[in-house]
Amino acid sequence: MISLREWGPGDQHATRRLLIRAFGQPDEADLVESLRAEGAVILELVAEAGQQVAGHILYSVLSLEPVWESVQLAALAPLAVDPEFQRRGIGGALIHMSLPMLAHTGVDAVIVLGDAAYYTRFGFSPELAATLHSPFPPGDHFMALELSPGSIEGCGSKLRYARAFGL
Ligand SMILES: CC(C)(COP(=O)(O)OP(=O)(O)OC[C@H]1O[C@@H](n2cnc3c(N)ncnc32)[C@H](O)[C@@H]1OP(=O)(O)O)[C@@H](O)C(=O)NCCC(=O)NCCS
Repeated sequence: MISLREWGPGDQHATRRLLIRAFGQPDEADLVESLRAEGAVILELVAEAGQQVAGHILYSVLSLEPVWESVQLAALAPLAVDPEFQRRGIGGALIHMSLPMLAHTGVDAVIVLGDAAYYTRFGFSPELAATLHSPFPPGDHFMALELSPGSIEGCGSKLRYARAFGL
């Protein structure tokens, strides 16, 4: 059985192992640890299969320059499911559970850089993100989702990611 819950310090080693297994490299595990050290984490959840951490999602602070009508943004990165547990709905469940929690903390919109075929299933839109200035090359992989409807419509601000991203 899969259960979802907030990440805790006792999950550190298991999460690192999962991220290395999912991405095949330590970069994302290092990023997550740097985001925690920087105090930039807004929300972090894990999916557990029995005693094993099978999935993980993290949202970090993202600011707008210039600020836009006191809108609060979050960056979704990374999302990972252990290869052994992929394609069972765990990634989707982590997204579905976390979005209302984020809205509850006052986040108005979420930005993600990822596969459009995957994230558009959850309502992320490349068109919505198109007016924002990202440090990444433009394209369909750069997407936004509004939790407060209309919150980033027409916003032409620059996105400032947490320092851990090294942008
Ligand atoms: C991407 C990832 C988180 C999806 O998690 P998951 O639990 O396997 O996904 P779900 O079970 O919720 O959804 C599975 C569906 O998404 C599709 N999917 C999975 N990864 C995808 C990707 N990168 N691009 C497009 N579609 C993808 C699957 O084909 C499957 O489609 P189907 O339902 O039509 O068969 C997981 O595959 C993973 O950790 N990958 C390696 C790390 C990674 O690339 N993370 C994303 C960084 S932005």
